[in-house]
Amino acid sequence: MNTIPRDFDPIPSTRYQVRVAVVPLKQAADEADALAVPVAAGVEPPEELGTDLAGLESAGFTGKRGQTLVLPRADGPVRVAVGIGDRGEADATLVRDLAAEFARAVPWHKKLAVEVASEDFGVSVADFAQAVTEGVLLARWRYFVGRDAEQPTLESLLIVASDDDTAAAGVERGRIVAAACSLGRDLANCPATTLSAVRMAEVAAEVGGAAGLEVEIFDKEQLIAMGCGGILGVNRGSVEPPRMVRLRYQPADPTGRIALIGKGVMYDSGGISLKPSDESHAQMKNDMTGAAAVLASMTALRDLGCTAAVTGYLMCTDNMPSGSAMKLGDVLTMRNGTTVEVLNTDAEGRLVMADALALATEEPVDAIVDIATLTGACLRTFGVEIAGVMGNNSGVVEQLRRAGDSVDEPVWELPLHRSYRSQLDSTIADLTNMGGVNAGSITAALFLEEFIDGKPWAHVDIAGTAQLPAPRTWRNKGATGFGTKLLIEFALRFARPTGGAA
Ligand code: BES
Ligand code: ZN
Ligand code: ZN
Repeated sequence: MNTIPRDFDPIPSTRYQVRVAVVPLKQAADEADALAVPVAAGVEPPEELGTDLAGLESAGFTGKRGQTLVLPRADGPVRVAVGIGDRGEADATLVRDLAAEFARAVPWHKKLAVEVASEDFGVSVADFAQAVTEGVLLARWRYFVGRDAEQPTLESLLIVASDDDTAAAGVERGRIVAAACSLGRDLANCPATTLSAVRMAEVAAEVGGAAGLEVEIFDKEQLIAMGCGGILGVNRGSVEPPRMVRLRYQPADPTGRIALIGKGVMYDSGGISLKPSDESHAQMKNDMTGAAAVLASMTALRDLGCTAAVTGYLMCTDNMPSGSAMKLGDVLTMRNGTTVEVLNTDAEGRLVMADALALATEEPVDAIVDIATLTGACLRTFGVEIAGVMGNNSGVVEQLRRAGDSVDEPVWELPLHRSYRSQLDSTIADLTNMGGVNAGSITAALFLEEFIDGKPWAHVDIAGTAQLPAPRTWRNKGATGFGTKLLIEFALRFARPTGGAA
C-alpha cells in the first residue's frame, strides 16, 4: 500500500476558477491588464493599438501568423499585437492558436481581454468565443506543486462582444472543454506515487460524481471474481492494488451507445522486462493518459448536452518488477477466456485493455473506442503531434478522424493488416503479447482485436502525443493529456456507424 503521506492534491489546476465574461469594449479597457489586437500582414493596424504599420515594422513586427508584440501604455491595458498573417483560410484552430500565443506573450498579466473578430476569421461568434476561451485557458494552465502553487496564473478572461448571448454560449462551451482538458493534464502530470490506481479511482469518484456520472469502482477481489486475468497479471509485481473504474453517462433516449476504454498504467517500469533508465522511462508516469482522457472527457458530456450514452472503463495499475511479478512465459487467462503467453512484461498495455474490451462487448454497444499509450512504434511513426488509429469499422475510424481534425488533436489511420496476426501465435496458448520487431503498432492493435467479438471498434494509440518536449500554442510541455478534446468531440458528433468492416 501507499505508505507516503498524501503530500499534495493530484489535480491542483482544477481548483482554481478563472472568471470568463462577455463584456463591452469600454469595460474590458477599464478592467483588463492586457488586450489582444489582431493585425494582418502588411495592413495598417486598428487605431486602438496606438501605433501604425511603420511603428510596428520598426519593432520587427510584420503581422506574420502567430507573431506577438507587447506595446506598453501609460494608460489602460497593454496592447498585444497578434499577427494573423494573410486574411483568408482561417478557422477555429487558428483562432485557438492565436489566442494561446497572446496569453503566452503576457505571462505575468492576470486579466486578459480579447475582442471577438469572427468575421475576419470566417467563424461564427460562438465558435470564435469558444476557441479564444480554450486557447487562453489552456495556454495558461500549469501543473505546479511547489511553494507558490496556490497562486492562480490567470484571474479573468474578458471576451469583448456586442452579441452577448451567442458569445456567452461559446464561452461556456470553451470553459467546459478547457476544464476537462485541464483535468486530463493534471492527472497525466501527477507523479505515479501520489496518483496510485487507488487514488485515481478516488479522483474518478469525486469528479465523475460532480459531473453527473455513475461511478463504480472494482477492487482486486472483484476483478478476481470477474476473471480479469490481464489487469491482475500486470498488477502482480506491484505493492499498489489495481482498480477498474466504470463510468456511465446515461442521457434520456440516447441516440447511440459508446464504450470508451482507457489504459491506466499509473507507472510503467516495464516489469521484469525492465525499461532502461532513460528519458522515455522517466516519462512513464504518463502511461495512464488514455484513462485520464476517458475520465476527463466524460466529465464534460452532461454540460455539453451529449445525446449518446457513454460507458467508460479505466484500467488502473502499476507495472512493476518484484518477486511476485509476472514471469516471461507465464500464461494469463483473460476475461473472455482467451489465454495469453506473456513473452515481454513491458507489453502490458494490451493485457490490461483486453479485459475491458471483453467486458464492453458484453453489453449492447454501437461502437467501442480504446485509447492507450500503447507502443513506442507509434511515437516513431507519427512523432508527438499525431495519434495513430486502427479499427475494424471504417465508420468509427472516420468519425474519430473528423473529430480530431475539428479540435486539433489529429489522428491518422494505420492499416490493420491481418496477415501480421500470425506474429502473435503462441505454441502453448491462444496468443502471445509480443509481435515481431517491426509494425509494432499494428500487431498491438491486432492483439486488441481478439477481444472485441466483432463489434464496431477503433483503437487510438497516443504513445507519441502523450508528452511534448516544448509548449506550442495551447499545448503544454510534459504530459499533455492528449485525447480529452478528441473523445468529447467524438461523443458529441457520434452517429451509429454505417461503415463496413475495415
Ligand atoms: N507504455 C509503453 C509504450 C510507450 C513507449 C508509451 C514510449 C509512450 C512512449 C508500452 O507499455 C510499451 O512498453 N510497449 C512496448 C511493447 C513491446 C515490448 C512489444 C514498446 O513499444 O516497446
Ligand atoms: Zn510497457
Ligand atoms: Zn505501457
